[in-house]
Amino acid sequence: MRKDSPPPPLPAAAPPQYTHLYQPGPTSYQAIPLVPTTRPRRSTLRRFLLAFFLAVVLGASASLCSRIMTLITQGKIFGGHRWGAPSGLKINQCVTGDAWAIASADVSRPPHWTGTPFDLSLERDSILLVGSYPKRGLAGSLEVTTSPALNGTATVSIMTVEGSRDGDVRACGITGRAGEVGVGIFTRGWRWPWNRTHLKIRLVLPETGMPVLQGLTVDLPSFDLNIGNLGSKIWFDEVSLTTTNSPVRVKSLSAVRATLRTSNGAIKAESIVSQNLKVRTSNAPISGTYNSSSSLSLETSNAPINVDVGLTSDDVKHTELYMRTSNNVLDARISLLTPNGTFQTKARTSNGRLGLAFPAFGDDAALKLTARTSNAPAQVVLNPAYEGWFEGRTSGHQSLVVERSGSGSGEEEDVREIEYEGRERDGRRAGYVYKGKEGRGRGRVEVRTSNAGIKLFL
Ligand SMILES: *[C@@H]1O[C@H](CO)[C@@H](O)[C@H](O)[C@H]1NC(C)=O
Ligand SMILES: *[C@@H]1O[C@H](CO)[C@@H](O)[C@H](O)[C@H]1NC(C)=O
Ligand SMILES: *[C@@H]1O[C@H](CO)[C@@H](O)[C@H](O)[C@H]1NC(C)=O
Ligand SMILES: *[C@@H]1O[C@H](CO)[C@@H](O)[C@H](O)[C@H]1NC(C)=O
Repeated sequence: MRKDSPPPPLPAAAPPQYTHLYQPGPTSYQAIPLVPTTRPRRSTLRRFLLAFFLAVVLGASASLCSRIMTLITQGKIFGGHRWGAPSGLKINQCVTGDAWAIASADVSRPPHWTGTPFDLSLERDSILLVGSYPKRGLAGSLEVTTSPALNGTATVSIMTVEGSRDGDVRACGITGRAGEVGVGIFTRGWRWPWNRTHLKIRLVLPETGMPVLQGLTVDLPSFDLNIGNLGSKIWFDEVSLTTTNSPVRVKSLSAVRATLRTSNGAIKAESIVSQNLKVRTSNAPISGTYNSSSSLSLETSNAPINVDVGLTSDDVKHTELYMRTSNNVLDARISLLTPNGTFQTKARTSNGRLGLAFPAFGDDAALKLTARTSNAPAQVVLNPAYEGWFEGRTSGHQSLVVERSGSGSGEEEDVREIEYEGRERDGRRAGYVYKGKEGRGRGRVEVRTSNAGIKLFL
């Protein structure tokens, strides 16, 4: 665009060194110039006009764009001037983010919680902590702890992390549809994904006056959720922890029903005890200790599951365990902690090693297990107390080992009989292991993979 002078004519081509190969070449080569040299003056003028025109158009559209962006950012268009509060919530008093205390962005320094906290009086004993904001506009961390100083009330404190004080974020005391009390975080305006506001939120629950809390619902997208040692202090009816793209860490938690949900973030629990427990993420690992007396599901994808599971049975119905991942390892140690009961368990992965062990096993426990992977080895170590049917099946002429697990351990002798079904053939071994005939029909274990070996210890 800046070339105002006519381009220099092509330099007379030096005769190529290979001219001797085709003698008439050089003449015709020189006769065709690559750039026409006959119209230099008109071209210069045109280019100047074109450049001028483009500059005007670009300048105008740039200023228009920036004006539009300003309007969007300020929320004057696209309805962004409204606070994104979901319907169904009653909004009480609010505080905007430019009034909050500032926390250090340095994670090694614990924040001083000097900001004015929200006091939640817990007559309805159900707490709600929700956020409604654009997906990448806001992020942060939540910490849930207890305090012996609180009696029948909970507090929520919020701080802005250094450098992201923001008048377009606000926190409001809210009342939910079912009368839950809590705090909502809302934003207005449009946000650049790289200019997030970072918050630190702390919820402190009472240690006295409230041994049973009805509910705790947290739904804060893009927040790390850190649940402290609540398990021994408070028993919840229902806990629901939801975030996205962030990890969930639990020290201890006890609830009748509990759901932990995130995506692209790991879930790690030192101890969760719940009758009905659902744990779900994607593309990130699940680890820790999970106990359940009724149903437990652990689901992720493309990442390992490495857990200790404790199952009990109240004999009313089956206790169910479901574990699922893909393209990665699934390792679980499953303890059946009651002397009897039926345990329906499924463990499934693909393209990754599957390893299950049953360190504790009730003498009269009935275990139904389906364990499956593909293109990777599977190893299942049952307990010497297991009785029932077993089957291992693989493909592609892979090794298949079925043995007693207790043999040689010097403990009380394994008196069970093993009765193989049919003959041993490539890729399949099945049969019964039992003490008395009535044990034959008690359990059912199936282990499958493809293109890899199986080890099944009875
Ligand atoms: C908690 O508050 C209740 C009344 O609201 C009172 O009866 C109780 O003694 C308090 N407990 C403690 C440990 O302070
Ligand atoms: C980032 O966000 C803050 C607070 O909302 C705002 O003051 C600042 O102008 C924003 N910066 C950019 C580059 O958008
Ligand atoms: C939970 O299960 C583990 C085994 O994985 C067991 O050692 C522990 O005692 C169980 N905890 C409770 C509270 O049942
Ligand atoms: C399981 O054990 C409990 C106590 O040990 C007993 O009361 C109950 O009848 C047993 N249930 C079955 C189905 O054996």
